[in-house]
Order: sequence, then structure tokens, then C-alpha cells
Amino acid sequence: MASLRQVSFLECIFMLTACPFVSCKPNIVFIVADDLGWNDVGFNNPDIISPNIDGLAKSGIILNQTYVQPLCSPSRSALMTGMYPFRLGLQHVVILAYQNVCMPLNLTTLPEVLKKEGYATHIVGKWHLGMCRWECTPTYRGFDSFYGYYNAEEDYYTKDVGGGYDFRDNKRVATEANGTYSTDLYVERFKTIIANHKQDTPLFLYLPFQNVHAPLEVPDKYYNMYPNIRDHDRRTFSGMVTALDDAVGEVVSALQQKGLYDNTLIVFTADNGGWVTFGGNNYPLRGGKVTVFEGGTRAVAFVHGPMFQKTGVRYDGLSHIVDWFPTLVEAAGSSYKDPTQDGVSQWKSLLSLSLPSGRDEVVYNLDYSEFPEQGKAAIRVGDYKLIAGYPGLYPDWYKPAQAHMSSVTRVDNAVSNKGTRVARTPGEQVTSAAPKNFYLFNLKDDPTEHNNIYDSHPDIVSNLTARLQAHMSRYVPPNYPPPDPASDPAKWGGAWSPGWC
Ligand SMILES: *[C@@H]1O[C@H](CO)[C@@H](O)[C@H](O)[C@H]1NC(C)=O
Ligand SMILES: *[C@@H]1O[C@H](CO)[C@@H](O)[C@H](O)[C@H]1NC(C)=O
Ligand SMILES: *[C@@H]1O[C@H](CO)[C@@H](O)[C@H](O)[C@H]1NC(C)=O
Ligand SMILES: *[C@@H]1O[C@H](CO)[C@@H](O)[C@H](O)[C@H]1NC(C)=O
Repeated sequence: MASLRQVSFLECIFMLTACPFVSCKPNIVFIVADDLGWNDVGFNNPDIISPNIDGLAKSGIILNQTYVQPLCSPSRSALMTGMYPFRLGLQHVVILAYQNVCMPLNLTTLPEVLKKEGYATHIVGKWHLGMCRWECTPTYRGFDSFYGYYNAEEDYYTKDVGGGYDFRDNKRVATEANGTYSTDLYVERFKTIIANHKQDTPLFLYLPFQNVHAPLEVPDKYYNMYPNIRDHDRRTFSGMVTALDDAVGEVVSALQQKGLYDNTLIVFTADNGGWVTFGGNNYPLRGGKVTVFEGGTRAVAFVHGPMFQKTGVRYDGLSHIVDWFPTLVEAAGSSYKDPTQDGVSQWKSLLSLSLPSGRDEVVYNLDYSEFPEQGKAAIRVGDYKLIAGYPGLYPDWYKPAQAHMSSVTRVDNAVSNKGTRVARTPGEQVTSAAPKNFYLFNLKDDPTEHNNIYDSHPDIVSNLTARLQAHMSRYVPPNYPPPDPASDPAKWGGAWSPGWC
């Protein structure tokens, strides 16, 4: 086979007739910011210092209405499979280190498809899609290399979580990572990957950063950039955003130095909203991480690249994190299609911004688990959003100054809400004694969800309820097993390790 040479996007357009002797596939750098809220980025909030992110966003396309799941593992499973987490049994909370749970092993992942298209595939950062056996881990799920951690969170320096060390270089426990701020490690690694990348191969670089998830930790130089923020948590958090921003700047320079930048699609997205008890902020949106309100689910996101015809705009088309799988597959020129996926390719819409998004509905979540008080379902159809069930902890509007919530008891685990009775299926009425958890919003007129019009619009409620019920035919109950003692890091040389399921 003739060897492929990578060419710039423009060159590519002129050389189409020369295909297949040149690689016209764009490089794809997919950046995930962990727990970054709507109000936590410079292009939405001038108090935040994020010039690199803002620069890319403003010279790309800011996605104004793109949705994610309210939590990490669910969002990441949607990204990797193109399926809603309620179809994977991953919709309830997140995968915990000691649980025998993986993203279902019989599904094709996004990097697997891109690899078949000739891409080199690398992940640098957080996995959080299961690790109880090797088959669940990144290098068995489509990635050529993995550098980072398996679980939800950890100390940014010691890499400790729940009494176990969690940091790997491919399969090896990377003890040398102990002591260095993770973002600096990731920058070094992706610079090496980019520098060593073979020019004739397209690159898929998945960068799910640790920032800005709790614990709140940042080198002093970033903390010191925010002398005007009095609240310690918010100040630390803001510094963490700037640390992330510097890393994003390093991505751009590394791509430029290697000559890859002119044929690279950069996607940036949060995995869920900001966590209001840990420095994050979503104002003026309602709620935050773990809630199905917009503050938990409407993501900070943008795309950037030479292929987009209209840039410097906010695009209002509706999309969801499940859409990235078919979107990127189309961007890569692959004919792969899986009709069982929930994702809709947004590629043509993004290229010209003149087509509709192809999606008029988003399912925020469907979770009727064994804990009835946790039942949670929400859907958007067109401008209307129905919430039928407990929307999640911290359901109000929080401005940055009060974002650390010192006046409320921190509840660090989303499972621990008690006493809120909700429906067990979309149509069920709650008993009269129970608090009411039904909401209908018109997001076009009321994007901040102040006016519950549930009682005045029974016709719309019944339409949206029917749409929710239709999805129940594909519902897979959450897989949420108790802790497995075999996972104990003490049995695995002190590190969270695969091999016990
Ligand atoms: C994967 O396995 C699950 C559970 O056994 C099954 O319901 C589902 O249909 C399978 N999916 C595919 C694509 O094979
Ligand atoms: C990480 O380094 C600290 C400080 O040197 C040390 O106390 C800790 O035991 C180390 N952790 C591991 C897992 O080696
Ligand atoms: C973005 O969404 C907001 C609603 O939150 C809306 O008011 C605004 O017009 C949208 N921007 C664009 C450019 O569509
Ligand atoms: C409800 O759905 C029906 C059938 O799709 C549609 O004709 C009707 O306009 C909808 N009503 C409302 C209020 O959305």
C-alpha cells in the first residue's frame, strides 16, 4: 500500500483527486474538563483567567446548547459508546473504585472505530469507566496508550484515593508520578506523544484532564493570580481553571511545532456542570453537578479547526455528548454506523452551521433504581423540558461569592438524599403527602428554570411523559453493586489494580 502523508486541510481540499495517496483525515484532540461549570470559564465569566481556552473558543464555534450527563462515568460512557447511560446500566451514580462494574464489554468504543480508520489513539488523564479487570481498562478498549488514573478523583500530587495509589503508564503502576501536580505530568506526556507522532498517521488524542475536579489543589502561582477572590475554595478552583488553560495552550503549541495544527479538530467539553460544594459555579444556570437542572447538564463546550466555514459564533443547535461518537466518526471519513446508538452526527451541521442539528430531543437521565427516593427522569423536546423525579442535591441558583456553600452541610455523595419521594416510572403520580418533584420549563423563554409551568400545561406534560415512557422500553436498570473486598489496594501492593472480577 502506498504510504500516506498527512496534509493540511486546505491542501487536502485541493488534492481530493489525489486520495487515497494522502491522508485527509483530521487529527482529533478531544479535551474534557472535569466538573467545569458554565460560569467557570473566561468566555462566560470575565473573572476567570483562561486566555487559551477563550482564544480557541472565540476563533471556533461555541456550542451554546450541548448537553452532558450530570456525572462523570455516565458522561464518559456516553462519549465512548454513543449510547445513553440508561441503556448501559451506568446512569445511577459513578463507578466507584471498589465496585465490580465496567462500561459494557460487548460494545464498540469510539477509539476502536478510529483505530480501524488508521488513527493512532492515546488517552492522557482520567478513565473512570471501570478497572476491576484488564479488559475494562483503556488499552483494551481501543487506546494504543494510557497515562493517568482509573477512578473518579485523587490527590493531584500523591495520586492517592481512598487509601490506594492510582496512576499508570499503560499497565505499569507509575510510582514516579507521586509528588508532581497531575496537570504538569499530562502536559509532558502529551508533548511527547505529539512530538513522536508519525506524520503519515492521523492522531486521536483524548485528554480528559483531572482539573478542575475536587480535591481543590493548585500550585501557588495559580492561586496567586486571583488576589480579589476572598473565598479560599473559589480562589483555588479558579487557579485550577488557569492551570488547565495553560495546559490547553501547551496542546496548541505542541501541535503547531509538529506541523499538525492546520489539520487538527479540537473539541473541548465539560463532562458535567460545576460542583457547587467544591468551588464550581454555574450561575445563572440552576443547580450543578449531580442535578438534571441546566447547571448540571448544559456543558461549556466548543469546537475549533480549519474545516469550519463559520467561526467566531455561538451555535444554538441542540446536541448531546452521545453525538460525539457518530460526529467524530464522520469527521474521520469512516462509514461505520451503528443504528442502535443514540448519537446523531452533528458533523455536517457544524461544518456549515446552515443545517438543523438533527436532534430535537435530549434525555437528561432515566434512573428508576432500587432506591426509590433517588428516582430521576428528565427530557427536553424542542424548547420544553420535563423533570419527573428528584432533580438532585443543591437545586438552587448560586453566585460565585457563595459558591463554597459554607452554610450548608457538605454532602459529598450523591446517594445520600433521603426523604424525597418521587415517581418510580415516568407517568406515576406521587402520593399527596410527598414533596412534589415535577417541573416543566420552557427553556427558550426561561433558560435559568425559574418558572415551573407544570400545572398550567398538562398537554405538553403528557406529550413529554409519553416520550420518556417510550425510552423505558430500552431501559437497563443501574448496576450498582456493594463494595467488593477483593478490590482492596492492600491486596495489590497498595495500588488500585485490575484482576478481581
Ligand atoms: C451487550 O450485552 C448486553 C447484556 O448482556 C445485551 O443486553 C446487549 O444487547 C449486548 N449488546 C450488544 C451490542 O451486543
Ligand atoms: C508518595 O510520596 C509521599 C511523600 O514522599 C509518601 O509519603 C507516600 O508514601 C508516597 N506514596 C506512595 C504510594 O508511594
Ligand atoms: C445562547 O443561549 C441563551 C440561553 O441560555 C440564549 O439567550 C442566547 O440567545 C443563545 N445564544 C445564541 C447566539 O444563540
Ligand atoms: C402533542 O403531540 C401531538 C402528536 O405528536 C402533537 O400533535 C401535539 O401538537 C402535541 N401537543 C403539544 C401541546 O405539544
